[in-house]
Amino acid sequence: MKPMPLNIQADADHAIVWRNDRLYLLDQRILPGRESYLELQTAAETTCAITDMVVRGAPAIGITAAYGVVLAARHRYAESQDEWRVLISRDLELLASARPTARNLFWSLQRMEALIESLGPGDPEDRLLSEARAIHEEDIAANRTIGELGAELVEGGSSVITHCNAGALATGGYGTALGVIRSAWRKQKVDQVYADETRPWLQGSRLTAWELVRDGIPVTLLTDGAAASRMARGDIGWVIVGSDRIAANGDVANKIGTYSLAVVARHHGVKVMVAAPTSTVDMSVAVGKEIPIEFRDPAEVLQCGGTQVGAPGVGAWNPVFDVTPASLVDAIVTEKGVVLMPDAKKMADLMRN
Ligand code: MRU
Repeated sequence: MKPMPLNIQADADHAIVWRNDRLYLLDQRILPGRESYLELQTAAETTCAITDMVVRGAPAIGITAAYGVVLAARHRYAESQDEWRVLISRDLELLASARPTARNLFWSLQRMEALIESLGPGDPEDRLLSEARAIHEEDIAANRTIGELGAELVEGGSSVITHCNAGALATGGYGTALGVIRSAWRKQKVDQVYADETRPWLQGSRLTAWELVRDGIPVTLLTDGAAASRMARGDIGWVIVGSDRIAANGDVANKIGTYSLAVVARHHGVKVMVAAPTSTVDMSVAVGKEIPIEFRDPAEVLQCGGTQVGAPGVGAWNPVFDVTPASLVDAIVTEKGVVLMPDAKKMADLMRN
């Protein structure tokens, strides 16, 4: 991965850029301080970029992996026009190992793999690129629909709390949770957004705040422990979050802290909306406890901005996601429709459409 000046305004809707046959990612690790793109040339570099959080957020991970398959095909076809299909299976495996929880990663790789299997002889790059572009564009379109559907549920004059970053940066563009917030803001239904800072990667304070401030949407940061006190003041209408994977019964895996937010929301009579495309729904996983949860290096918790903040010798437990039971979710909003009070039957009906 090498830093590459790109002749475009860095913005959240251009976090993943395919240009002149090359893949560029806005480096989300260093936002908001620096707006810098990295150029990726191989599937191995793409895998590292996902693992190392250059790009993050389930839909954005899936889209990036699809472009990673295009890079892999270019190299494997140059290596052997007869054997590239066999050789590329290693790249698909590598990409699939980048992060374990985001359903969109596996969904996207399965879609690319199915295309590879259906291709006839000849250079596969153009066909695979069309598919990756389609995955990218479909995600943006899904987010627009999710935004409209979700905004309909928000009553006028609401303040909302969001957690992590489920914005344009985390998707192909527009965002899921932030897509709903953007649409609701345009309809003058949201007065104020509270963004949890989201330790340890600070996706809330660094990324969600960056996106919303740029859009002129009023956003105020909360430390992760402040949500209950904020809700107790009585003017929060909704908690609106994204998801990394939704089980067949409507249980929701999302950024660590979402579960506690949902528990606190129920106590205060605040509703919980999960905004996610159906590419995040995993019908092969019956219940949330079967969702693989990623654990990352304890050093992420023990340090902040590269400075050691944990006492020398202390350890840290660092699960990246948690599972919110469907019973604590008031609405799952997808591009195919809204599921109120989700359960297995309602999720199956949604996914049959
Ligand atoms: O660890 P991250 O930053 O990839 O976690 C991202 C989240 O938890 C998002 O809420 C989720 O992927 C949905 S993004 C539209």
